[in-house]
Amino acid sequence: MERAIIVYGSNTGNTESLAGAVAEELQSRLDVTVQNVADISPDDILDYDLILLGSSTWNEGELQEDFQDFFEEMDRLDLSGKKVAVFGPGDSSWEEYCRAVDLLEEKSRELRADLIAPGFKWDGDIDEDAIAEIRKWASKLH
Ligand SMILES: Cc1cc2nc3c(=O)[nH]c(=O)nc-3n(C[C@H](O)[C@H](O)[C@H](O)COP(=O)(O)O)c2cc1C
Repeated sequence: MERAIIVYGSNTGNTESLAGAVAEELQSRLDVTVQNVADISPDDILDYDLILLGSSTWNEGELQEDFQDFFEEMDRLDLSGKKVAVFGPGDSSWEEYCRAVDLLEEKSRELRADLIAPGFKWDGDIDEDAIAEIRKWASKLH
């Protein structure tokens, strides 16, 4: 079975909820690991075929704080041959809406990953609709 890792950074639990929904969607067909970004190093993601990165956006377009060092350290990786997709919640009342998703996609592209889906962005609270939409997004990842 193909192996997938979901790496998330979350301050108030919203990205964590999205990560959980993605895991539920994928686990029938993939061997899925969910990891808080604070607990792993970038090299750990090289053990997986599919890499899903989730970060909320804070303070005018910054990555969630636990993701910041990880993001810098990602520079040493070569992600060629890896399938990657990115997700994150945000709030469109902020100018830099869901910028963390864009930053992680840019970085993945620079590291030569194969981005297999457009980034998933969610505006506002993580309610039933958010969970349904991200499950739909996850169901199309392969
Ligand atoms: C102080 C503060 C700054 C924020 N800055 C942004 C921002 O620049 N862009 C954005 O899209 N959302 C921004 N948000 C919204 C958060 O990304 C949103 O609440 C998200 O769901 C938090 O997810 P988390 O609990 O996984 O960290 C901000 C929220 C707060 C409280």
